[in-house]
This record gives sequence, structure tokens and C-alpha cells, in this order.
Amino acid sequence: MNDFTGQTIIVTGAGSGIGRATALQLAERGAHVIVADISETAHGVVEEITGAGGQATAAVGDISEQGVVDKLVDAAVATGHRLGLVNNAGIMDKFDGAAETEDAVWERCLRINLTAPFLLTRAVLPHMRAAGGGAIVNTGSAASLRGAAAGAAYTASKHGLAGLTRNTAYTYGRENIRCNLIAPGGVETNIMTTSAAVNEGEIDPSHGLAAITPIHQGAIRNARPEELAATIVFLLSDAASNVNGAILPVDAGWSAG
Ligand SMILES: NC(=O)c1ccc[n+]([C@@H]2O[C@H](COP(=O)([O-])OP(=O)(O)OC[C@H]3O[C@@H](n4cnc5c(N)ncnc54)[C@H](O)[C@@H]3O)[C@@H](O)[C@H]2O)c1
Repeated sequence: MNDFTGQTIIVTGAGSGIGRATALQLAERGAHVIVADISETAHGVVEEITGAGGQATAAVGDISEQGVVDKLVDAAVATGHRLGLVNNAGIMDKFDGAAETEDAVWERCLRINLTAPFLLTRAVLPHMRAAGGGAIVNTGSAASLRGAAAGAAYTASKHGLAGLTRNTAYTYGRENIRCNLIAPGGVETNIMTTSAAVNEGEIDPSHGLAAITPIHQGAIRNARPEELAATIVFLLSDAASNVNGAILPVDAGWSAG
């Protein structure tokens, strides 16, 4: 049930953090992984996978651009395998409310965190239909569920991603296509620095909600990326064959409080 041999799985943001851990776990279980990232770090992850005897292809580019999405889906289709998709790449905003949010931060956050998953979902669905099914997992956030975990742009993008998840699950469930979302709490990754690079601006850790998130809001502990990856792998697998449209907190109980 946990064997992905004969499947090609696109993992976005796989050059770092949760995406990297997911790519490694999927490759260990026999998947051919398309390691998609805006950063050249994608090549390093492909080397890790192939060095361990697995199969992977790097796809470097901005997944919020249609041309990049077309290319990486073509690369996945060319393997001749059944497709899976993990919409995981994402960036933080600057922890500002609507009044202080700059246009560029809003546009960039919505484009990468919500439009890119839409573009990829739209691109893989015809192939999943033709193959008789498929699984998609979206990486949401505590900010998919609540309003105090980030700024206005990130929160709106991650709530939107929950909506895209539910709609995709319900619309295509009868065609054996599943779509689920994980909602992590704090995870030890590079997100603050990678987001600053993509946003072309520093995130001040003492600023606004950043200063009180998440430990000061009652989070129990931060997670390791591997813990999130294991949940993504489960949701992609046949062990989760009746799980569709779930918005699953993976946060050590933070959202239960
Ligand atoms: N770290 C946390 O505390 C946390 C909590 C909740 C949710 N998340 C979500 O987890 C997901 C993964 O983030 P992470 O924490 O592993 O961070 P990370 O920064 O370590 O990894 C994210 C990767 O996405 C890539 N990326 C960013 N923009 C991209 C683009 N336009 N095209 C292609 N790749 C792009 C980055 O280069 C980076 O390698 C994100 O969606 C994030 O919102 C993270």
C-alpha cells in the first residue's frame, strides 16, 4: 500500500524543508520524483535520491508561471507512469494585516501559494482521468484554519488552498481522484529565509504576528520536516484510498487547543 513503484510524483518546493523530506521518502518507496523548485537546490536533492539508488528529475523554475508548469508536467508525463502531485512550495508574507500589506507581497503570496497549485492541479487532472485516478496533496498551514497564524496575504492564500482542495476532492472524487490538505503548525525549515529571497525583503522576526507565532500562541512543539512528509506520503498512498477532501492538522495538537 505504501509502494509507489510505477508512479511519478511531482513535488514542488522539493529543494528544501517539507518538500525535500517528501521527495526522499517517496523515492525510497519506488516513486520517480520530479523535484521542482525555483532554487538550484533541486539538483542537490536529485543527487541525494539517485545516489541512494532512486529515480528523480530536477525541474528548476518558478511554478507560478504557466510555461514552467507545462514543462514540468511534460517531464512527468514523459516517464510514462501514473501521476501524483504534491503542491508544497510556498512563501510567507511579512506578518502584516491588510492595511499594511504591500501589493507586491499580496500578489506574490497569492500567486505562489494559491495560483500555482491551481495551475498544476489543472495540468495534471486530464492525465489522472486518463489513468483512472490519482492523488494530490496540498501543503496548507495552521493559517488554512485560523486568522492568527500569519499576515493577511498568507492567511488568505492558505484558506484559498483549502477551498481548492475541497472543490477538487468533491468534483473529481467519482473519478477516483483524491485531493487532501495538510495543515502544519511550526516546522523547522528554511521558510523565513527562502521567503525573504523570493519576496525581495526581510521578514523581521520581532514584527507583528511573527513575534507571537506559534509558540506564544500555545503551539506544543515545532515539527521536523520528516513528520510532515510521512503524512503526505500516507495521503498519497492507497492506504488513504477513502480519504478525500480532508483538511488535516499535523501540529502536535496546537489547533486542538
Ligand atoms: N515551516 C513552517 O513552519 C510551515 C508551517 C505551515 C505551513 N508551511 C508550508 O509548508 C510548505 C513548505 O515550506 P517549508 O517550510 O518546507 O519551507 P522551505 O522554504 O524550507 O521550502 C520551500 C521551498 O519552496 C521553494 N519555492 C518558493 N517559491 C517557489 C516558486 N515560486 N517556485 C518553485 N519553488 C518555490 C523554495 O525555494 C524552497 O526550496 C509551504 O507551503 C509553507 O507555507 C510551513
